[in-house]
Amino acid sequence: MLHEIGLRSGTDKADESHSFRGESYLQVYERYLASMRESIGSVLELGVKTGASLRMWREYLPNAEIHGVDLNPYCLRQRGERITIHCASQDDEDRLNEVALIAGGFDLIIDDCSHINELTLASHRILWPHLRGGGHYVIEDLGMSHRDYSEQPDQETFMDGELAMNMRRGVSPKQSREQLTNRFEAIIFEMDMRRGDVRFLHFWPNMAVAQKVAT
Ligand SMILES: C[S@@+](CC[C@H](N)C(=O)[O-])C[C@H]1O[C@@H](n2cnc3c(N)ncnc32)[C@H](O)[C@@H]1O
Repeated sequence: MLHEIGLRSGTDKADESHSFRGESYLQVYERYLASMRESIGSVLELGVKTGASLRMWREYLPNAEIHGVDLNPYCLRQRGERITIHCASQDDEDRLNEVALIAGGFDLIIDDCSHINELTLASHRILWPHLRGGGHYVIEDLGMSHRDYSEQPDQETFMDGELAMNMRRGVSPKQSREQLTNRFEAIIFEMDMRRGDVRFLHFWPNMAVAQKVAT
């Protein structure tokens, strides 16, 4: 059902490039969300672009307020009923804390933003405390985390634009997958020791899904 809504809304989360052996990101999401559709009250997606995925979440989650964060002010046009857009960078601690305060926390947080490791990590550090117990934190497009943009300046066009936008803010294009791997390993260590507040950390082709322990 989510996959079909996604195809209609035009988000790329349902297309071939976001699928693995016939299963799209949205079919993965549905495994986690199907049983809690009605109870999800608040969603944050980092990365708005055309707003397609935000409209998809609005349709799929009938009681959710949808918050989108994007650095590009053009995205403010995507606001609408139950959809609020915040123009900020995904590593802007003050703004993200402010958004979380307005929303009262989130049941679902999605990082479909710059796919620059340093920024992915910053968002996770800032936002995990704002995830409600039982909520899910999803990082999409993990394949991008292996790319050192300083060595491969000619990425796909959309990435060129986003990369330039972030580099103007002083973000380094140099990155290695270890940056994310180290954080994942730290989380796994906490889980091994039966500490912390991560219930599970699942890896799917190109995406990671973590759930926070229910309070
Ligand atoms: C892949 S698109 C989002 C697609 C959307 N989630 C969907 O599924 O329809 C990525 C977006 O991230 C935004 N972006 C890139 N770097 C950012 C940053 N540092 N902070 C906030 N937004 C950023 C870009 O402006 C772009 O709109």
